[in-house]
Amino acid sequence: MSTPPGTQPTLADSTLARLRETQIAFDSVAADYDGPRGNNGLIQDMRAEMWRWLDATFSPESRLIDLGCGTGLDAVRMGQLGHFVTATDWSPLMVQRTQERAEREQLTDRVRAFEVGGHELQRLDATGSYDGVYSNLGPLNCVPDLAAVSRECARLLKPCGKLVFTVIGRVCPWEMAHYLRQGRWTRARIRFARNTVPVGMNKHTIWTRYYTPREFYRAFKDQFTLEHYRGLCVFAPPPYLTSVRDTHPRIYGRLWRLDKLSAGWPLIHAMGDHFLIVMKRR
Ligand SMILES: C[S@@+](CC[C@H](N)C(=O)[O-])C[C@H]1O[C@@H](n2cnc3c(N)ncnc32)[C@H](O)[C@@H]1O
Repeated sequence: MSTPPGTQPTLADSTLARLRETQIAFDSVAADYDGPRGNNGLIQDMRAEMWRWLDATFSPESRLIDLGCGTGLDAVRMGQLGHFVTATDWSPLMVQRTQERAEREQLTDRVRAFEVGGHELQRLDATGSYDGVYSNLGPLNCVPDLAAVSRECARLLKPCGKLVFTVIGRVCPWEMAHYLRQGRWTRARIRFARNTVPVGMNKHTIWTRYYTPREFYRAFKDQFTLEHYRGLCVFAPPPYLTSVRDTHPRIYGRLWRLDKLSAGWPLIHAMGDHFLIVMKRR
């Protein structure tokens, strides 16, 4: 990894301040992220779905970038399968957790973690040497300029390299119903904001921008073709409503099966707490 002088994009001070706030927020949860906050049963189901798509997309021994790796749950799993992962995150404490996990699992030859934000991918070298980039559970919602991410991914990938991302979506029927029931109208509408909005976490602020799959793809269309997208948690509730899963496991099981069956269908594929999107380098 290198930081060539003069190649950092210039970000406005206000953007940098927001990135910094988001970094502090994620640092504050890094220690307990693998508990209910970042890895409850519902999140594990979403993760299993992401793994299914990662396995279907990348052939053995691929060179991959994990963008927003968190505590390294995906990176280490991919390393265990024999891939080579450059794990990156904007939160130093998350990166430290990934490094520790890789060391514990004796995978440091396959998983290497770096403090690199999605807005500073120009710091990664090895141009044209990666088979894919993946990002799970919303790091890209916190990156200010997706078109720059697209350009950097195109630079880093081999021809026909793939992107597999899960991104927080705009249209989440469960969330709207949940907040409208509580009379929290402003909160119910937050995902429809056009720009970046502040969302509270652990008494800190994450600056987040929500997308429909089509809006998201627009930033990537010059360098990537769209292969597939589908909703994630369309019928199943979003991860913070994990009580639904705990109290009604059979209903939840049916909803999740419905999700798997139909979340790629027209109209439905643009909904959900998250969406999963697969793109291929032109
Ligand atoms: C909800 S967590 C998901 C973590 C991990 N991908 C997973 O599946 O558990 C979001 C992650 O995005 C990271 N993040 C936030 N803003 C970022 C940015 N600008 N660039 C890269 N990572 C960022 C956070 O530090 C956090 O680790």
